[in-house]
Amino acid sequence: MALPSLIMHRTSLSSCNATGLVLKNQSRTHKRGAVTVAASLKTMDSDVPAVARDDSDLPLREIPGGYGIPYVSQLVNRWRLLYIEGEPKYWENRMKNLNSTVIRTNMPPGWPWTDSRCIMFLDQKSFPTVFDYDKVDKYKAFAGTFMPSTSYTGGQEMCAYLDPSNKKHEQLKNYCFELLKLSSSKWAPEFHSAISRAFLQWEHKLSQKQPALVAPTLPEFMFRFLVNAMTSADFDDPKIPDSEKPTCAELQKWVGFQLIPIGNTKAAPLYVEELLHVAPIPAKLTKGGYDKMVAFLQNYAQETLALGLSHGLAEDEIVHNLIFFLILNGHGGFCRFLPVVIREVGRIPELQAELAAEVRAATAASGGQVTMKAVMHDMPLLTSTVYEALRFNPPVPYQYARAKKDFTISSHDAKFEIKKGEFLGGVNFMVSRDPKVFTSDPDKFVPTRFMGPEGEKLLEHLVWSNGRQTDESSVHNKQCAAKDIVPLTGRLLLAEIFMRYDSFKTEGADGKLAFTSLQRRTDL
Ligand code: HEM
Repeated sequence: MALPSLIMHRTSLSSCNATGLVLKNQSRTHKRGAVTVAASLKTMDSDVPAVARDDSDLPLREIPGGYGIPYVSQLVNRWRLLYIEGEPKYWENRMKNLNSTVIRTNMPPGWPWTDSRCIMFLDQKSFPTVFDYDKVDKYKAFAGTFMPSTSYTGGQEMCAYLDPSNKKHEQLKNYCFELLKLSSSKWAPEFHSAISRAFLQWEHKLSQKQPALVAPTLPEFMFRFLVNAMTSADFDDPKIPDSEKPTCAELQKWVGFQLIPIGNTKAAPLYVEELLHVAPIPAKLTKGGYDKMVAFLQNYAQETLALGLSHGLAEDEIVHNLIFFLILNGHGGFCRFLPVVIREVGRIPELQAELAAEVRAATAASGGQVTMKAVMHDMPLLTSTVYEALRFNPPVPYQYARAKKDFTISSHDAKFEIKKGEFLGGVNFMVSRDPKVFTSDPDKFVPTRFMGPEGEKLLEHLVWSNGRQTDESSVHNKQCAAKDIVPLTGRLLLAEIFMRYDSFKTEGADGKLAFTSLQRRTDL
């Protein structure tokens, strides 16, 4: 189902960069990727220039790599991926050593409680297999080889874990689409009110000569924003006692505990990290905060819950899926994506000056208000910058699926046979830096990359959402239901920043990302 009021209008990207600033040359290499991803792909034996090459010439190869010694290699791979080599080194090393962008490897958590065997896709040509629904099944594939216990979600299987062939998926995704559609008129004003509070908090910190850490302020305001924009509850209603309000921290714990087996806290000592991969964390440890969210929605978002009934859903399915949409899909995604926008734009002062000019000119017609209409039109550089953030650091690292029949796939260099039942995964970070597609500086943050007719063609290869940016999310696929509203929200963030500030600086990354300066506008 389309989202008519939210679908991005095809902004004309060709009127770009009016002042002629050559941002490409000023873009910075990101430490994590450095030049290495492109370099390692380029070392492989191939001159194949493009994705559209006819596959008939390609040699048929065995998928290289393997799963090693049972149990032992699962552990070793987990340690190498999570701690020793880390990403993207883990993938670069294997692409180089195996001379392939389609490889076999174990993926966490593995031993002792999941089958860790995966075929991983690292290039733009093989990657779309994970959303080719004629060939793959997505049931229980959302988080990889393992699915958290449904005791985290009231005993219900969530929409994100269902295959599109399941009628329940259709009902739940339609419900999510309807919520997003209904929120369209509230999205920009609620975002404005939430981010304005965050600005005050960051400014206060800076005035105290303290680092203005992006988190937890940003997660906190995004939590309130999503509840207020997507449900009929008003989180800020003074009539609701504080004791009845769930906290962002409790719900982040709920997300973290269910997903920790596949990740890395990067904060705990190694032996604690390892313990977290040996057995799942019981859901009851997060029950208090989660149950408070259930009760909050039941008491204060009755209209939103009632809407689910018209989609043929039962009360239990509605409330637990609503929490999953809001917190795991929405909040979790934004908390990974928006800091990247801040971090990358914060590194390029010249870009900031251009964005400020563009945003202020485009909002003049709306009296200086950042509206949805304003960010949909006449902001080509802003639009491209946000897409580039989604390419540069895709917020969700892997997309998975299971082969439902035997078939053949291709990378740029070879064809490979996949057998029914094999588990498949795509590494979004590597795919988004495939130098055969992103031919110009794939490892650099290039804000202008998606501008102009040539840049617009690249949107087909922007795949952060488990689909192409040019595809339409629907009940028949597993593409993110918020595929259009996510980049629009990135634009809202930058537009709000440049309506208030002339420039800003940041330091650090991940949990330590902080504003070191926020320069208020001088032209008002
Ligand atoms: C920056 C924010 C977001 C990111 C990065 C993101 C990313 C993704 C990705 C990668 C998937 C596909 C997962 C897979 O099957 O492999 C997905 C699915 C989904 N997303 Fe998002 N998402 C974001 C925000 C949202 C929001 C705000 C909503 C709505 C509240 C939403 C709703 C969904 C739903 C319902 C699915 C499952 C789709 C299906 O089962 O067909 N997402 N998202």
